Amino acid sequence: MDKIVIHGGQRLKGEVLISGAKNAALPLLFATLLAPGRHRLANVPQLRDIDTVAELLTTLGATVERADGLFTVGADAIMSIEAPYELVRTMRASVLVLGPLLARHGEARVSLPGGCAIGARPINLHLKGFEAMGAKIVLDHGYVEARAKRLHGARIYFDLPTVGGTENLMMAATLAKGTTILENAACEPEIVDLANALNAMGARISCAGSDTVTIEGVEDLRPLDYAVMPDRIEAGTFMVAAAITRGDVKVTGAVASDLEALIAKLRDAGAEIVEESGGLRVKGPRRIESVNIKTHPHPGFPTDMQAQFMALMTLGQGTSVISENVFENRFMHVCELQRMGADISIEGHSATVKGVKGLTGAPVMATDLRASASLILAGLAADNTTEVARIYHLDRGYERIETKLKQLGADIERVRA
Ligand code: UD1
Repeated sequence: MDKIVIHGGQRLKGEVLISGAKNAALPLLFATLLAPGRHRLANVPQLRDIDTVAELLTTLGATVERADGLFTVGADAIMSIEAPYELVRTMRASVLVLGPLLARHGEARVSLPGGCAIGARPINLHLKGFEAMGAKIVLDHGYVEARAKRLHGARIYFDLPTVGGTENLMMAATLAKGTTILENAACEPEIVDLANALNAMGARISCAGSDTVTIEGVEDLRPLDYAVMPDRIEAGTFMVAAAITRGDVKVTGAVASDLEALIAKLRDAGAEIVEESGGLRVKGPRRIESVNIKTHPHPGFPTDMQAQFMALMTLGQGTSVISENVFENRFMHVCELQRMGADISIEGHSATVKGVKGLTGAPVMATDLRASASLILAGLAADNTTEVARIYHLDRGYERIETKLKQLGADIERVRA
């Protein structure tokens, strides 16, 4: 299995270009199932999760052509309505196929995703929403079977703001009869990107990005022609990389309004952040201050940046309390950071991080996508050599991270097994 080997201690300097957002590209690719014709989606990152969607779309009968970041999807003939276990288990976001299939084809059969490393992650809120729109839902042999001749509009209140649930129901509601109102909806920038793309296809969605989204159903949609937004989590990861190495990096493609909570916390930690044309420039502090963070749905501090920020806090001057409020089991990186000399203790949903003078390089193992990124960040700041194993997690969500870090001056390489 491939691993990443880092010789820490280099200050990162220069400019890095952020790729298209994984979490925006995934629903957008599924949205192609809503309309016949040839869809074009640009700025799609090259990632393992994107390969999985392409495979799933092909399994359903769509044609997928890719040239660099440009995807052309032909969704005229859908031959199958089933998302099989083998694909869903490698990528939970496969459940986003439910809404588009149900809306355009009146039925879908999708494997239940099951648990994952960071928690139980059920899809009950997606299913409750489809039922409110008139779908009959049956659970059969590990699969969700959903049927509806034509979905109808409904008022749907989410018990908690779910990103995937909001996206799935928003896509389904575009072709439903009547108006759907999603209350306590998630407000993430990727939801706004999806709504903009759907509206360009002829949908009528208003107030996406607020907690109440209204969708007036239409009879049909045009093919998609759109470019995916930049990845705010990749941008955030490079911003922390600049901070932890006391470097000076321009992160091109970082959008300040999508990253407000992270920017505020990085500034509190001592980093200097300025907006420059097309991105953000981050200068790491001489002395990293310890700050507390609590993860929350957008616009709160993103759970997808918690592990990376914790790597920074291991070197803070003081004590930082990091509370994880979105997922139940998202501290898997802690044991690995401890192996590198970090002083962290966990109690319930909170981790107390006492800053240490320095981290020491060590062989460590990635446990999930963002945990992998946090170990790489720690390795950049540690002395000697850090080897990060199981990097297939990393390849799910970061496009050529080692190449990009190398261009900034990091001593890092991928060792192929
Ligand atoms: C998305 C992101 C993921 C991010 C997460 C939270 C994608 C592909 N993934 O995941 O990177 O970490 O948002 O920002 O965009 N929940 C339920 N029932 C449901 C649905 C969710 O209880 O039906 C719970 C989950 O267990 C979790 C919380 O709601 O505790 C938030 O999950 P959700 O926002 O749905 O995350 P995802 O869409 O899976």
